[in-house]
Amino acid sequence: MTEHTPGRGVWITFEGGDGSGKTTQSTLLEEWLAQNGHSVLRTREPGGSEVGDLIREIVLHHRGEIAPRAEALLYAADRAHHIAAVVRPAIERGEIVIQDRYLDSSVAYQGAGRVLDPADVRRLSLWATEGALPDVTVLLDLDPGVARARLDAADKPFDRLEAERAEFHHRVRDGYLALAAAEPDRFLVLDAALPARELAERIRARVDKVIQVGGTA
Ligand code: TYD
Repeated sequence: MTEHTPGRGVWITFEGGDGSGKTTQSTLLEEWLAQNGHSVLRTREPGGSEVGDLIREIVLHHRGEIAPRAEALLYAADRAHHIAAVVRPAIERGEIVIQDRYLDSSVAYQGAGRVLDPADVRRLSLWATEGALPDVTVLLDLDPGVARARLDAADKPFDRLEAERAEFHHRVRDGYLALAAAEPDRFLVLDAALPARELAERIRARVDKVIQVGGTA
């Protein structure tokens, strides 16, 4: 899925820390694509399938410790099923898939705990998905302090990862920026502090280019 084949769909993933605005931007992109006559599938990890929703419940809401390798394997198991059962078939049908979070989340979050080697985490996900990589990955980059203020204002209970200390979230951010620097062709890095409308325009411009090249009708 890295080499874009004409006639096939397009796969876009959104990445960024908690509170960076992924959901808002995914929704705006979905609306714009649908208005332009595209068939869009919106999905997310963890979750995005029935099996995935069960795994999501464990990784986000289990009370108490989960061993770091078990946590990484749970995300990878969710991913393996999601790509095989939901994402790959949609791309093969020629649809545009908009996905909140993918393997970069695992590398940034599970790698940020310092217990696991980020390269191992990435290899595990690539094995799980038979090497699937998105056409475009939008990284909404935001200072973790600003992100935390947004989450506090939203007044929702924190999940296991959101509740991690500030230092963890700084490592997640650095992890993401390192991933984007290593794959500049796949990543579109945006300053998530910009107004939502401006971010949406930049994302559209990039996605539009990929669609033109791919020739998705
Ligand atoms: P998300 O669905 O974005 O949370 P919310 O629904 O609250 O906006 O992501 C849930 C959490 O899972 C987030 O803190 C990041 C974490 N996560 C990982 O640690 N590794 C992964 O591989 C993925 C996909 C998510």
